[in-house]
Amino acid sequence: KKYEIGLIGLSVMGQNLALNIARNHSISVYNRTESKTKDFIKNKVDKQEIKAAYGLEDFISSLAKPRKIMLMIKAGKPVDLVIDSLLPYLSKDDIIIDGGNSHFEDTNRRLKNLEEKGIRYLGVGISGGEYGALHGPSIMPGGTKEAYAEVADILKDAAAKTDKGACVSYLGPKSAGHYVKMIHNGIEYGIMEILAEIYDYLRKVLQLKPDEMGDVFAEWNQELDSYLVEITAKIMKKNDPKTGKKLIDLILDKAKHKGTGKWSVQSALDLGTAIPTINAGVNARLVSSIKQERVENAAQFDKSSRALVDKKEILSQLKSALYFASVIAYAEGFKLLKTASEEYNYNLNYKEIARIWEDGCIIRSGLLEPIQQAFADNMNLNTLITTEQFKDQLNVKANQLTELISTAAQSGVPLTAIHSALDYFNSLKSEELPANLIQAQRDFFGAHTYQRRDEKGTFHTNWE
Ligand code: 6PG
Repeated sequence: KKYEIGLIGLSVMGQNLALNIARNHSISVYNRTESKTKDFIKNKVDKQEIKAAYGLEDFISSLAKPRKIMLMIKAGKPVDLVIDSLLPYLSKDDIIIDGGNSHFEDTNRRLKNLEEKGIRYLGVGISGGEYGALHGPSIMPGGTKEAYAEVADILKDAAAKTDKGACVSYLGPKSAGHYVKMIHNGIEYGIMEILAEIYDYLRKVLQLKPDEMGDVFAEWNQELDSYLVEITAKIMKKNDPKTGKKLIDLILDKAKHKGTGKWSVQSALDLGTAIPTINAGVNARLVSSIKQERVENAAQFDKSSRALVDKKEILSQLKSALYFASVIAYAEGFKLLKTASEEYNYNLNYKEIARIWEDGCIIRSGLLEPIQQAFADNMNLNTLITTEQFKDQLNVKANQLTELISTAAQSGVPLTAIHSALDYFNSLKSEELPANLIQAQRDFFGAHTYQRRDEKGTFHTNWE
């Protein structure tokens, strides 16, 4: 018997995706460490049609031609090593599908190298964590279009479904899929940080207990319908099985990361596009990680005194902040996608991206429906902030943020992402920015020249 698809890498994500695919298609799996494969077959596989292969040759020969091989392995060097180890066994037109969080430039390189050998390559972003992998993730494929056509059915069957269809769509050539997944993660970092800042304000200024905060997040989420808000509400309610205390209070406040947020910011800088809210999400994780230093610093300063606020009023401002800054995080992400699409010729369809993010993925939320409408009205939008769907709401909510930001500052609570979102909005809607002074300074100390409002040309002044 020949199997329709093969999967390499039986981490939890790989296992769950294999089980998901096996509901509709025959699949063969391989993992370098044999015991993992054995555990998987013994403990997780029931009646599904899954073949366990215990050698690469066995694995490859179990697959129907042209072979379709999905890699669910750690991004970076391991992907290259596995591809190299596969090469001797592959034949022309076989398809390798990288389902990990690979850097988009690695994907471009691999695609080029493999195409020269006649092997087809798809860089596929998969979002949804363990649960999504098993029950239906959001899938973001890019690469050779005709190769996608051959695996489309398998990916569609595995993906999350909404009434608009499966949460998968061919996004574009080369690394388009991995680029879009990277920006998905950038937005994820932004929204996670926005929620963390609101949590910080709730506990430090309003002095709410986790249970109460859980109620607040759950109530807001009736409107927002955001997965990240939903899990935040649940996290607040969770007791530690060991001590019975609230688990959130026992978790060390040092955030880790595996790179996709940082890469989003690096790419934004390379492409000359600002994503300050997402950037704030990355920076906040970096600052959190120097815990010892923060503890030492804290001892050198008096504690800020808590601002006195009207609880009802401030809760409404926090809810506005969550909406406002989340919209801005998406707006920054889509703006960067547009820049990247133009630079790298991805030819991205932003409406379709918002559609496949509507379910299965980590940043799914009620905001993705109006985002799709905005792109349906204008495919080539420069920014979401001026659209019918968001303009008025952003304007109203921006006005509600000033008291929140000032009381946070009085209380010594950093709201970096929320503040960045507000400043991004205020900058984008400023006809006049002070960059004339920057130009004057550059010309003053370095003769870097400037342009004038009243005359065409390039000018330099002897300033002293
Ligand atoms: C997803 C997630 C996932 C990502 C984790 C961890 O869409 O399912 O984005 O792919 O790897 O969220 O990311 P960090 O370790 O960088 O926080």
